[in-house]
Amino acid sequence: AAFEVNMNAGANLQEQTSSKDASDVEFTLENGSPYPHPYQYQRIGSNGPLLLQDTHLLELFGSFDRERIPERVVHARGAGAHGYFEVTNADFCKNFTMMDMLSENGLKTPITARFSTVGGESGSPDEARDPRGFALKFRTRKGVLDIVMNNTPVFFIRDPAKFPHFIHTQKRHPASHLRDKDMFWDYLGSNPESLYQVMRLFSDLGTPQGFRHMDGWTGHTYRWVQNDGTWSYVRLYAQTMQGVQNFTNAEAASISGTNPDFATQDLYDSIQNGTFPGWTMFAQVLSPEAAQSFKYNVLDLTKDWGFDNVAPVEIGKFYLTQNPANYFAEIEQAAFSPANMVEGWAPSADPVLQARLFSYPDAHRYRLGVNHKQIPVNAPVNAVANFERDGHMNINGNQGSRPNYLSTLDKIKLPPRAYADETHQQWTGGAVASLSAVTEIDFDWPRIFWNGLSAQDQQNLISNVVGHLGAAPTYSVRQRMASIFNYANSTLGQAIADGVGVKVVNLTFPGGPTWFNVTKDPVGSTLDY
Ligand code: HEM
Repeated sequence: AAFEVNMNAGANLQEQTSSKDASDVEFTLENGSPYPHPYQYQRIGSNGPLLLQDTHLLELFGSFDRERIPERVVHARGAGAHGYFEVTNADFCKNFTMMDMLSENGLKTPITARFSTVGGESGSPDEARDPRGFALKFRTRKGVLDIVMNNTPVFFIRDPAKFPHFIHTQKRHPASHLRDKDMFWDYLGSNPESLYQVMRLFSDLGTPQGFRHMDGWTGHTYRWVQNDGTWSYVRLYAQTMQGVQNFTNAEAASISGTNPDFATQDLYDSIQNGTFPGWTMFAQVLSPEAAQSFKYNVLDLTKDWGFDNVAPVEIGKFYLTQNPANYFAEIEQAAFSPANMVEGWAPSADPVLQARLFSYPDAHRYRLGVNHKQIPVNAPVNAVANFERDGHMNINGNQGSRPNYLSTLDKIKLPPRAYADETHQQWTGGAVASLSAVTEIDFDWPRIFWNGLSAQDQQNLISNVVGHLGAAPTYSVRQRMASIFNYANSTLGQAIADGVGVKVVNLTFPGGPTWFNVTKDPVGSTLDY
């Protein structure tokens, strides 16, 4: 059954005028004063000049001229909806985390989800070859939790400083303002730790059949924490109940031409028709001790844990049951951030995750303003009480007459400490420093992935790469990339090299592929400079 998400709950806002039908309201100026007609303007006589006193006309343009806010610097193109998450395995969760929202079977938490492509602008086609964002906002009884996932278990980078470089290469060339294949592949051919993500992207998984037919992963390792301070590593995985379905390259290209809004429309229509999309949420849990001897560095975002290595356990289900009444208010203004955490959910020392904890709230302050958490879609359902005040667009009463400092005269209640041990000493296993160097293990998942593909899917991967990489004008860019594919698997690499007209170079170990002089500067360094 539908689960109504009350966008005003707890936000202590005046009733939103949008909740009324057009026929219930009268046309007014911004100050609420009734006005006779939207096309009316004031002028001298019947053909004379317009008057500066015509507040209506001035407001009309003043508002129109300011309609656009900055789009998201990445993931600008997307669609979203509301729904709920329901716990199905509280017994399991309680062994590892004190999270309130996971504490009782059947407990429902209202959610907002937003799906997106990454590189394209707000109006770009939904069916672009790109990872898909899969962001969830949980309005728990004890604060807002955002799980900001992608539709892949890994990511291109494990050094956060590479992110702006990488993203720039997926966007437009500074001079031509065109997507640039040389730029695109120059980066990927210089940073071979991306290879597994690149292979997923250039398989048909890179063009999912809309947003309903894809899975989501946290990618990063997070931590589940108990109130005695003990904790476990955790990754979450959302499995689509609709089944994973992808388009071939040709289908995606054709749909991008005929209906660039395919995924947005598919999500909206299915909810409008009452076919509510759902996902089952699983957790993979690893103790800090087990992580020390685990095959992969758990802080390395380019590595999947693998379901065979760490079994996923179902913890809940979620469904999207309600389209936004207003896209801009409820989806464009939604601010998802890994820094929105609740008691029992904490970051790991994954450096990319740590960097994201700064980047998202910073982006939100820029894109939406300092008080973006007061916007109904972002506001918690429980009351907020702190000492932050004022600022642009403070619209929720600014915490009234309560003291704006830690007062002894009118004391604020302090909740019990969530964790007994808050020393933030946690296992890093010496892993962070050595993360940047490319080593043999970086080719593990590319090989597992390649070997797991059907013959048809292998063929599609090859032709998808050849079609794209083949259009990169520079020989060395094509050669570098083909040689990396070749290092992972020679059938794959040779087919790509033949397809893009280059001769592969044999890379050697130890010390990483010969092009990648990572030893001089192990942190953040990439290739031959
Ligand atoms: C959006 C930064 C890696 C998933 C964004 C935004 C920024 C950002 C600034 C726009 C936020 C906004 O304006 O609302 C970064 C940085 C990263 C990184 C600096 C690495 C250093 C990742 C990873 C994932 C991810 C690894 C997934 C596992 C998303 C999603 C959105 C997003 C889903 C869109 C959220 C929405 O729908 O509003 N990212 N990102 N990002 N990012 Fe990242």
